[in-house]
Amino acid sequence: MWSFAELSLEDIVVLMIGDKVIHLPVVDSTNNFLRDNHERFTHGTVVIANLQTRGRGRNNREWFSPEGGLWFSILFKPRKPLKPTFFTKVASLAVHQVLNKIGVQNKIKWPNDIYVSGKKLCGILTETIYEGERPKIVICGIGMNVNNEITKDIADKAISLSQITGRNHDLNGLLKMVINKMNQIVKKYYTKPEALTRVWKERLMHREGEQIKFLLNGVTATGRLIKIEDDFIVVELENRQLRISSLEVVVS
Ligand code: BTN
Repeated sequence: MWSFAELSLEDIVVLMIGDKVIHLPVVDSTNNFLRDNHERFTHGTVVIANLQTRGRGRNNREWFSPEGGLWFSILFKPRKPLKPTFFTKVASLAVHQVLNKIGVQNKIKWPNDIYVSGKKLCGILTETIYEGERPKIVICGIGMNVNNEITKDIADKAISLSQITGRNHDLNGLLKMVINKMNQIVKKYYTKPEALTRVWKERLMHREGEQIKFLLNGVTATGRLIKIEDDFIVVELENRQLRISSLEVVVS
């Protein structure tokens, strides 16, 4: 166990997510906003928007972000050599725990999506600006379908919190819960990121040793999940071990 007494001032700076929250009625993308303005803002700044006109998902996919959803990003300026994936895990674990707390059973689907009843409720987009080898700026964007409509074209794969619980939710309240949880998780695992990885792995929908379905060159294949890493998984398929990057998709 470590205590505050063991932390330097630099370490303490890392603990304060959400000291500054910028609320925008509309923006192209909260990730873009922080990327373009990171020099003006301090570590831990959160930007939230009512709606995004060009919300982005992983692999350059469009992220539909109408009013009613929870669309926000967090600016990290890590002073310790923490991998960007540390912050992604903090975010996914925080969302996972907040949902559990409000009675919504959910799973983290590798790499970092939150699924309920086989449908995606929340996605996370982490982007990094490097200075040489060092991650200088990490922007972690979280998008959760909350009170927003799920249109017909995505209804087979996406779900909203209001669909699950049958009521509307307070977006600011949810934001605060996620931020508080993120601060707790950072505080707990900041000095031992490998312990966070263990906890995160335990919460994943798929465990090492299980059969999974994944997309390989656009075709669905079934294989045994051998190893889970931050950015890739190793899958055994017909006695061959394949490395599947997080850019490809685990189907089920
Ligand atoms: C994914 O699952 O592909 C990640 C989706 C991330 C969406 C969020 S919404 C807030 C932030 N701004 C963006 O443009 N994207 C992220």
